[in-house]
Amino acid sequence: MTDTWHTAVTDIQPNRVAVRGYDIADLMGRVSFGAAVYLILTGNLPDEKTGRLLDAILVSSIDHGATPPSCLAARTVASTGASLSQSVAAGIMSINKHHGGAIQDCALALGNLLSDAESNNQSLDEAATALVAHIKSTGSRISGFGHRVHRKDPRTARLFELAAEAGLTEDKARHVAAARAVERAFAATGKPLPINVDGAIGAILADLGIDPAVFNGFFMIARVPGLIAHVTEEQTRERPMRRIDPVNHAYDGPSPRSLNESK
Ligand SMILES: CC(C)(COP(=O)(O)OP(=O)(O)OC[C@H]1O[C@@H](n2cnc3c(N)ncnc32)[C@H](O)[C@@H]1OP(=O)(O)O)[C@@H](O)C(=O)NCCC(=O)NCCS
Repeated sequence: MTDTWHTAVTDIQPNRVAVRGYDIADLMGRVSFGAAVYLILTGNLPDEKTGRLLDAILVSSIDHGATPPSCLAARTVASTGASLSQSVAAGIMSINKHHGGAIQDCALALGNLLSDAESNNQSLDEAATALVAHIKSTGSRISGFGHRVHRKDPRTARLFELAAEAGLTEDKARHVAAARAVERAFAATGKPLPINVDGAIGAILADLGIDPAVFNGFFMIARVPGLIAHVTEEQTRERPMRRIDPVNHAYDGPSPRSLNESK
């Protein structure tokens, strides 16, 4: 007799698919994609506001134009004649520590800051000031802060707003509060460094109590549609094996439009 191995993710029976116990046909049309992602990664469905927050996290990272390394990698591979899956995989492979993969590291750094503050009997601002002084003196970097383009990332502000609506206000959401304290400490040095979208997502996911092992996965899940759009555009609009200039490109899609107009 062969050994049976187990999985607790999805049960497949003839004519029935159940994700974490929920019939997939019941979930379909009733549960948002963000809520379904939360379900498959954590084992439970989120409440309505947390589901909205998770949707917003996925929307926030769907694309960031042609400059991110993952987009350039996907387009470069696509331009060699690779398949869609090969090209998208190349993009995903460049989601790491410094791009899209700062979520887990930022949450870890904020968690360490919270334990330092507690063990040294310091306020969050005192602990953050000490951390920033250490970063400056050693020339090190903290994940989840800084951005090549944005000084005030519009995604971060909206995510924190939705997090507060879902109950993650600074008094309860300690990682969000720690991120804010680090931001204040950088500003106090005269060289402000904004929380970037990875940092905001890291703080929020940590405060939601999600397993850090899946944090960077949220960015990957979110970015796949953007990568597919870039790969198909590359293969339909550009000539094969062109030199892809990482900086010198211009947007020629639709002009700014409002959600209200399309309703
Ligand atoms: C994203 C990133 C590469 C953008 O960097 P950049 O805007 O090109 O900035 P530079 O690398 O030129 O650095 C400019 C200054 O800010 C400092 N700095 C930038 N990001 C920093 C960070 N996360 N922590 C500490 N200092 C930072 C640099 O040390 C440098 O200081 P100096 O002027 O005293 O030498 C950078 O901010 C970073 O490494 N962030 C951490 C990783 C991260 O969160 N990645 C996800 C991005 S969405």
